[in-house]
Amino acid sequence: MSAQVPVLEDLGDVRGKRILVRTDFNVPMSGPDEDRHITDDFRIRAALPTIEWLRERGAIVVCASHLGRPKGTPSAKYSMAPVAKRLAELAPGVDLLENLRFSPGEEGNDDAFTRQLVAGFDLYVNDAFGAAHRAHASIVGPPRTLPSAAGRLLQREVEVLGGLRESAKRPFVAVLGGSKVSDKLGVIEALIERVDELLIGGAMCFTFLAALGNTVGDSLCEPDQIEHCRKLMAKGVSIQLPEDIVGVDASGEYATFGTRLPQGAKGFDIGPGTAARFSDVILAARSVFWNGPMGMFEDPRFAAGTRTVAEAMAETKAFTVVGGGDSAAALAEFGFDDDVDHVSTGGGASLEFLELGDLPGLAALRGAPRVR
Ligand code: 3PG
Repeated sequence: MSAQVPVLEDLGDVRGKRILVRTDFNVPMSGPDEDRHITDDFRIRAALPTIEWLRERGAIVVCASHLGRPKGTPSAKYSMAPVAKRLAELAPGVDLLENLRFSPGEEGNDDAFTRQLVAGFDLYVNDAFGAAHRAHASIVGPPRTLPSAAGRLLQREVEVLGGLRESAKRPFVAVLGGSKVSDKLGVIEALIERVDELLIGGAMCFTFLAALGNTVGDSLCEPDQIEHCRKLMAKGVSIQLPEDIVGVDASGEYATFGTRLPQGAKGFDIGPGTAARFSDVILAARSVFWNGPMGMFEDPRFAAGTRTVAEAMAETKAFTVVGGGDSAAALAEFGFDDDVDHVSTGGGASLEFLELGDLPGLAALRGAPRVR
């Protein structure tokens, strides 16, 4: 754990204490608004070690989380009811507050909302790694008044990602995908200082390919980021881009291209040559961080690149970490989620932590009053 962030043991004797546990139960859901059901309870199960640790020692645990982005307005679509039901099955007797983001005070980091939230609690635990990059009331507010600690999940995430950031075994390879390069420029800047190879797939590769003078057809591309990508590649680090692309041609037919896509064509996945090369690099690495799918894997025609990377992640002897969000979903879909060393519960949070080495939620815990 990074220096000075208090952990559960620092809370002292928790017997009989009322503890507010901030979790990230922002789980994927489907179904009509009035009848939502959870499609993946990974984030709920990930909070159980903390909940169990506290309850075994006689604490009274109440969880609180956001769900989706209801923007300060209560709605059935974002009700915590399905999550409360699942939590009751996994940890009977643990209460769960209604969606924190039903109040505008949560995202507004409002003092009055924080006071209302902590009323009646003795201690606060942050186990919401996935939301620890948000300076929202429930993340940064309670440690201003309550003795606080990081839960086991937050602790482990910081240990794993901090270890990767500071002392990864070499060769250290990062694999980045996803649609927008603009979302990832910060982490790319930080990673190129640290990694031996940076492999880029997903739609974000088209902005890099365009920066090298390639034509990208109608593929997703961010023209205002081309210059930035060119500068990144000029830094002399090993950024590896696709040599072949799979997608559709101007008439919508499945097609394979090189790095120059004709007018009207759209790229949706890295091609087989690229996937094999990326796989070889991952297999030869000693540490690998992967965030973002290599293509539109939800469509079986464009799943092969992401699947090959997932297979290599499962097969390599390297220490493997998968950033949350879509890459974690892809790994689970292909059945490899038990074959990597760490699947982060945080998407944006894992990238921000790798970039900056700290998060608002961790800084808040460091400043919390200590138990006397
Ligand atoms: C996530 O899913 O990444 C976290 O729960 C944070 O959600 P947010 O991006 O809506 O703040």
